[in-house]
Amino acid sequence: MKRLRVGIVGYGNLGRAAARLLREKRDVWRTGEGLDLDLVCVLGRRGGLFDPMGLGAALARHGDGEDKKTLDGVPGFDPSLRFGRVVEERLIDLLLEFTPTDKETGEPGTTHLREALKRGIHVATGNKGPILAAWEELSHLAREGGLLLGIGCTTGGALPSVIAGCEGMAGADVSLIEGVLNGTTNFILSRMEGGLAYEDALREAQAAGIAEANSDMDVRGWDTAVKLLILAKVVMKGGLSLNDVAVTGITRLTPKDVEREQKAGRRIKLIGRAWREGGEVRASVAPESISAVHPFYSVSAKNKCVRYVADTLGDLFVAGGASGPTPAAASALRDVICAWRMGMLGS
Ligand SMILES: NC(=O)c1ccc[n+]([C@@H]2O[C@H](COP(=O)([O-])OP(=O)(O)OC[C@H]3O[C@@H](n4cnc5c(N)ncnc54)[C@H](OP(=O)(O)O)[C@@H]3O)[C@@H](O)[C@H]2O)c1
Repeated sequence: MKRLRVGIVGYGNLGRAAARLLREKRDVWRTGEGLDLDLVCVLGRRGGLFDPMGLGAALARHGDGEDKKTLDGVPGFDPSLRFGRVVEERLIDLLLEFTPTDKETGEPGTTHLREALKRGIHVATGNKGPILAAWEELSHLAREGGLLLGIGCTTGGALPSVIAGCEGMAGADVSLIEGVLNGTTNFILSRMEGGLAYEDALREAQAAGIAEANSDMDVRGWDTAVKLLILAKVVMKGGLSLNDVAVTGITRLTPKDVEREQKAGRRIKLIGRAWREGGEVRASVAPESISAVHPFYSVSAKNKCVRYVADTLGDLFVAGGASGPTPAAASALRDVICAWRMGMLGS
């Protein structure tokens, strides 16, 4: 049985979901995979908890419920515990990084991932910022150290977009990536087809917990653009930045636009696309009207999908996967289980 001491940094929606999954699935993975993922450390911005014997039971009693927003009050909480000490003293073997995405600087995630990898600690993250800002550096560190850098959670969570692109298309030359990569906007567009105005559909998505209170990144197309750039980086080796992408969101669409397309047997989807042109990779994000024969036509509500086209392996389309913090946290843990099965985490 291989035991890995796990640390979580960023104890918000995904951090708490990951802690719960580590507790609920621990025995299943011990028996089924021969892998013991033992949560020993959780860190927020103002301190955290560390117990070399494992935190599972303490968190179960006091602090990994949906309603727990902070770690304060959990017995053993240490306001002086800092990330620097955890990695410098190598108190963990695997870091799950779930701090907020900053698409400009990539911080604090980039520092967390860099410092962990430098010290031989495996990492998996849901944070898109570091992958945009420092993919080349981080992937180099991981390769050099023979370490996991799991990023599947950053580009659609449960939708296995990275696995499909990197492993499904291994050895082929991918010329096109396109997808419906944002569940919130797809949900809003689906509700507008039911006759709701954009603002009402957005309010419904927020009330249902599908959209965040500040959903600007989603509805203006930036979340789709960021996910697309990550896929273009890792699958097409495209060195684009956000400034290179023409981004249009869904905020200007009216019920009339949606109704007109519906009457013509078409649907509007927010589509991110990256393609090769004259040796370079180009990318765009915009609402598009698609016909019923298009593979994205039946991707409704908060569902997502991705399609790859490559020279030797052809056309690959993947859709589905559950939405929300728990499936997203599970997708980071999927990267860990896959790495274990491939022998990357030792024996
Ligand atoms: N929600 C999803 O379904 C989903 C899906 C895929 C990927 N993601 C990505 O996964 C990440 C986490 O998402 P989330 O929904 O869990 O966000 P969240 O609920 O806002 O949680 C982020 C947590 O990180 C903490 N934090 C901020 N700076 C920190 C630091 N320097 N050190 C330690 N902790 C710090 C925050 O504490 P404070 O509250 O004190 O600032 C907060 O508790 C984001 O990058 C997001 O883009 C989310």
